[in-house]
Amino acid sequence: ATTLGASAAEKGRYFGAAIAAGRLGDSTYTRLLTTEFNSVTPENEMKWDATEPQQGRFTFTNGDRILNQGLSNGSKVRGHALLWHAQQPGWAQSLSGTALRNAAINHVTQVAAHYKGKIYAWDVVNEAFADGGSGGRRDSNLQRTGNDWIEAAFRAARAADPAAKLCYNDYNTDGINAKSTGIYNMVRDFKSRGVPIDCVGLQSHLGTTIDSSYQANIQRFADLGVDVQITELDVQQGGNQANIYAAVTRACLAVARCTGITVWGIRDSDSWRNDNPLLFDGSGNKKAAYTSVLNALNAG
Ligand code: G3I
Repeated sequence: ATTLGASAAEKGRYFGAAIAAGRLGDSTYTRLLTTEFNSVTPENEMKWDATEPQQGRFTFTNGDRILNQGLSNGSKVRGHALLWHAQQPGWAQSLSGTALRNAAINHVTQVAAHYKGKIYAWDVVNEAFADGGSGGRRDSNLQRTGNDWIEAAFRAARAADPAAKLCYNDYNTDGINAKSTGIYNMVRDFKSRGVPIDCVGLQSHLGTTIDSSYQANIQRFADLGVDVQITELDVQQGGNQANIYAAVTRACLAVARCTGITVWGIRDSDSWRNDNPLLFDGSGNKKAAYTSVLNALNAG
């Protein structure tokens, strides 16, 4: 096929982009979005600070814009992210203990219930593991409410939206390393105890290299009985950009339970990074990396 989404669909996958409600009035942006992609993720609009700016007062206007953009285009919608240590509203940052735990679970319940039946997969918990060699949890106000906060969040999400796939999502997990192994052990534990988890998101914010165990890492999560999604792919521009994008695409296609890839923005000018990490340049032209991904999707 001739577009990313259609080519991925031929392989039983989706190819998505993170999008921003504030850019939907840009005609180049929406043209690329609607022609190339068949999944969307809100870059910021479904996060805690955006959806519950005051405790118990929910605002879904911008999240709904992303949802409706996706649904009207026949795309999957990934929900991102119910709980995260970053981008919490100020009121939540100042809570702790039981008050924070109750507020967090209520947040999961209310947001998942608002979008019930419409979301393909939720990032229920984002970035809860520490960088470096410990393989353990990151310190945060949520972690200080007790180590069981992650499973409590997954149970609440399942109760509120039984149809959505529930994912754990993180970065620096792009190969077999201490951090990804810590997450692997958590998923294995959840599966053994019946804690509802359906998928693992590997963000894949990449530099100039790709770990030689990238595909093996996807495979080991799949072997636990969860889907894997590449959730926030972007790659530093340089000699290897097109090759790294192709390697990620091939690795996902090689693992049956790797269900799709999302790039974290459309044009380089839409990215949170300043190293031109995306598939389209600032004018919306296809880059070599685009062609490389499309060819990898059409091979295989
Ligand atoms: O909307 C306000 C605007 O009103 C204000 O004038 C402006 C001034 O700074 O800030 C705007 O908000 C910014 C928001 O993006 C929307 O553009 C925030 O400051 C800025 O912090 C926020 O950055 C987002 C970042 O998450 C926050 O941590 C990025 O767009 C978003 O791409 C990034 O996404 C994360 C994923 O959620 C999780 N994984 C890592 C990834 C990259 O950091």
